[in-house]
Amino acid sequence: MYTGLLHSHKLLVLLFLLHYVAKLVLLLMNRHEQLAKYSKLTKVPEMILSFGFLATGIGMLIKGAALSTLLIVKIVCVLASIPLAIIGFKKGNKILAFVAVFLIVMSYGLAEMNKKAKTGPVVDTSTITDPIVAGKLIYTNTCVNCHGADGKLGLSGSKDLSITQLTIDEQKTAIRNGKNAMPGYKDLSDEQIEDLIVYIATFKQ
Ligand code: HEC
Repeated sequence: MYTGLLHSHKLLVLLFLLHYVAKLVLLLMNRHEQLAKYSKLTKVPEMILSFGFLATGIGMLIKGAALSTLLIVKIVCVLASIPLAIIGFKKGNKILAFVAVFLIVMSYGLAEMNKKAKTGPVVDTSTITDPIVAGKLIYTNTCVNCHGADGKLGLSGSKDLSITQLTIDEQKTAIRNGKNAMPGYKDLSDEQIEDLIVYIATFKQ
């Protein structure tokens, strides 16, 4: 459900973005007649698009998207861009229209950055010999936000780790490469991933 929302949301946002970039280009090039025509033609699709992307966004929040500062900044940018876009394009004000489109592009970029930020450097566990201790440390630092201390939290559509049906190899691939809303952790060493697997297995009791 969450993953479906996420994919639809991404697609709708991308379409919305392209649509507004097209409008902005027409405005900046002083093609007022074409802009008026294009806006008239796309009025209903635009309404459906904006409703769709707000609805899927809100749906993801309700379904428990993991809130982060970047996500909040993103939501503020999107909410601020709406009145700016309406006024900017209505009055043909290039600066307002530009700022509005810029805010939408920025929130799109922030969403991508958000994913990268979460995959940043992981803790150093090279001095820890017990895999459960090492696994727990990495887990608490990197995974707990979405999966929760007992693996059951399920934020951002994450799977309950205490009942995972995946084989060890599949789990490793999920951790290394990510899956849907889960970022990949390429910086983890093979040993750290082994530690995580051992630690995750302790949830299954
Ligand atoms: C941003 C939130 C987020 C973070 C952080 C995160 N995960 Fe996930 N995880 C997910 C989501 C979402 C899924 C479900 C992906 C899917 O199948 O759609 C998932 C799935 C998994 C799975 C597969 C479970 C299954 O049954 O399919 C494993 C294993 C896993 N995560 C381990 C980890 C580990 C270990 C870490 C830390 C290194 C981690 N996750 C960090 C969101 C997250």
